This record gives sequence, C-alpha cells and structure tokens, in this order.
Amino acid sequence: MRLPGQDTGELYQRNPARHPPAYTPTYKTSVLRSPSNALIALQSSLSEITGPQFAASELGALDNDLIGNYSKSGLPIGERIIVHGYVLDENGYPVPNALIEVWQANAGGRYRHTRDQYIAPIDPNFGGCGRMLTDANGYYYYRTIKPGPYPWRNHVNDWRPAHIHYSLSGDAFGQRLITQMYFAGDPLIATCPIVRTIRDEDAVRSLIAQPDTRATTQFDARAYRFDIVLRGRRATLFEDHIHGESA
Ligand SMILES: [Fe+2]
Repeated sequence: MRLPGQDTGELYQRNPARHPPAYTPTYKTSVLRSPSNALIALQSSLSEITGPQFAASELGALDNDLIGNYSKSGLPIGERIIVHGYVLDENGYPVPNALIEVWQANAGGRYRHTRDQYIAPIDPNFGGCGRMLTDANGYYYYRTIKPGPYPWRNHVNDWRPAHIHYSLSGDAFGQRLITQMYFAGDPLIATCPIVRTIRDEDAVRSLIAQPDTRATTQFDARAYRFDIVLRGRRATLFEDHIHGESA
C-alpha cells in the first residue's frame, strides 16, 4: 500500500555510485552520447512527481505475450520462458500500475530492425516487443523466447550476453528507468563492455535474472525471476516517525 502523501513526495536523488558513468570509452558509443558539461540538479516539479498515469484499457490482450503477439504461421523458435517479478521503490513499497516495456533479439540473436544486419535469420513469428502494467502488488509477468547473444561493432570480437531491454515508467516521470536484464550463468556477462561500465558489483547482480523452478509451467516454459527497484520518495521519511517504527 502506498502511504498518504507518497504520491507527491520528492524523489531521492539517483545514486551515481550505483549507476554507471555516462562517459565510458570502453563502450564506444558512450563517448558521443555523454554530456560534455557538468549536470545541473533541479528541484522536481509537480509534473515530474505526479505523472504519468496508465490505464489497462490502453494495452492489448497479447501485449505481455511475446510468444503469441507476432505469431503469423506458427510459434516462434527458441526456448520458451516466463519472466516475472516485482517492481518496488527504494523504500521497499510496491509500485502499482507501472508501465514496463520490453524489447529483445530473437533466439538467434537477431532484432527485427532494419539496421540489424547480423547473419542470424529473422524469425517470421517473433516480433520481440511487449509491454505490461504492474498489479496492485507491483507484480508483473510476461512470456517470451529466450534471446540469443549477438556480436556488435564495439571492439574486435565483442559479444552481448543474452539480454532483454527494459523501459520502466512508475507513477512519477522522475522514476523512469531504462535498463537491461541478463540471465544467470551466462559467461558473456563478465566480459560485456556495457556491463563492465557498472562499477558496483551488487548493481551488476541486480540486473541478472535467476531461474525460478517454482514458477515453471510444466511441459511448456521455464521461469526467471527479475525484481526491479525504482527511485523512492522522501515523503515516507518526512513523517514524525519512520513507517514501521513506533511513534
Ligand atoms: Fe540489445
């Protein structure tokens, strides 16, 4: 449950020690993407801490089913998996009605995108995009095909580990988070130039989904658990006592 006043509270500042720096030459495209001047911290305005608001009616029935939402002549090729978990804020409260958008390569490591020229074939039955809203407990769930690793033009013989891209919008624009989810046990995680821009080992671990045998669908799909933490609000700590403690 959200606390009264929580929806309009100021967000905590991002922790720069946990997020990777913008300028990381080992990840080549960061050189041009990163700002050349120091950032300026601004007070959040109401528009950043009270919106967006999403409605379930805006989403389609198959939006969270990447196995079925682009199927044309049959089912997509690859490992059938479920990904599920909770979206929480930094105070440990669930973030209900958060929009989660995911996109990924197919089982061979190829994106359905005109600029992806990797030799692995496009799967005619796999689009690679999905979206969903968290429920009242911050829980989300989708079905998909496990993506394959792919080579990329960074340095010679750099390969991306299997990953799914995430965009999250909570109930405040300032909570927006763009990130990637990896799969436990993938040896490419340790050598990935993008992963290696993250200096905090615990932050790296937080991006790795773990197998969840209890959520497996028998004779259908294995499951992975992936929880996500968005920025928290100071409002809960501005009470006369911290939530959970006696007054
Ligand atoms: Fe990717």
